[in-house]
Amino acid sequence: MVRIFENVDISSRNSFGIHQTAAKIIEFDSNSDLSEIFRLHIDGEWMVMGGGNNIVFTKDIEKSIIFPRNCNIEIIAESTESVTIRVGAGLEWDELVEWAVERNLWGLENLSLIPGKVGAAPVQNIGAYGAEAKDCITNVEMYSPETDNFITLVAEHCGFGYRESVFKHSLKGRVIITAVEFRLSKVENPKLNYGDICAEVEKRGGATLRNIREAICTIRRSKLPDPAETGNAGSFFKNPIVERSVAEALLAQYPNMPLYPAADPECVKLAAGWLIDQCGLKGYSEGNVGVHSRQALVLINTTGEATGAEVIAFARKVQSTVLEKFAIQIDTEVNIL
Ligand code: EPU
Repeated sequence: MVRIFENVDISSRNSFGIHQTAAKIIEFDSNSDLSEIFRLHIDGEWMVMGGGNNIVFTKDIEKSIIFPRNCNIEIIAESTESVTIRVGAGLEWDELVEWAVERNLWGLENLSLIPGKVGAAPVQNIGAYGAEAKDCITNVEMYSPETDNFITLVAEHCGFGYRESVFKHSLKGRVIITAVEFRLSKVENPKLNYGDICAEVEKRGGATLRNIREAICTIRRSKLPDPAETGNAGSFFKNPIVERSVAEALLAQYPNMPLYPAADPECVKLAAGWLIDQCGLKGYSEGNVGVHSRQALVLINTTGEATGAEVIAFARKVQSTVLEKFAIQIDTEVNIL
């Protein structure tokens, strides 16, 4: 089924709660609807949205916005050690995590409570608490309007990196992700090395899947604002990846500065939240926009009335303050439209 809405206020469709209008919104339930959608309902530019959790609108949107709503979870292979599933792009990410935990399947539990839809997971290669979506993704299925057919890309060809994939680059604006395949493990594989997870899991009696999921949910709820109450887009900036020598120079001055390994062994990842916090900006606000008081990497719509332009101006200020103090450039993680 296809549902079309015209001239819609999209404040309830973006987690920052920004009021703008979309000329046309198209929701579809079944992948087989896509061919007809492009034949009959789209003439001109289009874009895809999932949950709208990583986006800041600065203007009304003239493009047609496509929302996948296909939510099936299908088991497509099973061995003694793993289960491979194919999941519709429109499913709420956390419903998938709960589905896996309920069935005692390992791999997604550290990604509990990340807001958004399954189809957005490979785009951003969503990650948290020492895990990334790419650790479990085997294939990504998509529709190409250019050729009017479906393509399956194996994970090795998805260009996955830290908050990176081919879907943000060469395939951007060219395909609609329709389903994602994940291989989940039947074998216990707890990842407890990040931050307070181990302590939170121990408090609950040990590393069961359910305890890990609950620990992650507790940690997230304690630090991150609920978009239903305060508009936000999760981490607004990416953690910067710098050469080791840069990090060492900073460590000499700030011995407690947190660091994480990066894919390139010559580099390390710094914590942008820590850098912003050290600038004294945590909890700081101007007009309708602020830095969250419990996690400096998150910008918030303090009054519910923020405009996209205000958010961007505030973000630029945060970036220039960090640049001035640390000579480190922090880039935005959110999409700005
Ligand atoms: N820190 C501070 N002050 C702050 C925030 C952080 O000092 O205000 C320090 C923390 O104490 C810690 C370090 O910075 O030593 C890292 O903080 P945290 O563990 O909260 O994680 P993060 O690097 O700020 C990343 C992801 C989050 C994810 C967490 C947990 C990015 C851009 N963000 O944040 O993802 O939940 O790790 O794994 O990589 C998101 O992408 O929207 C998101 C929430």
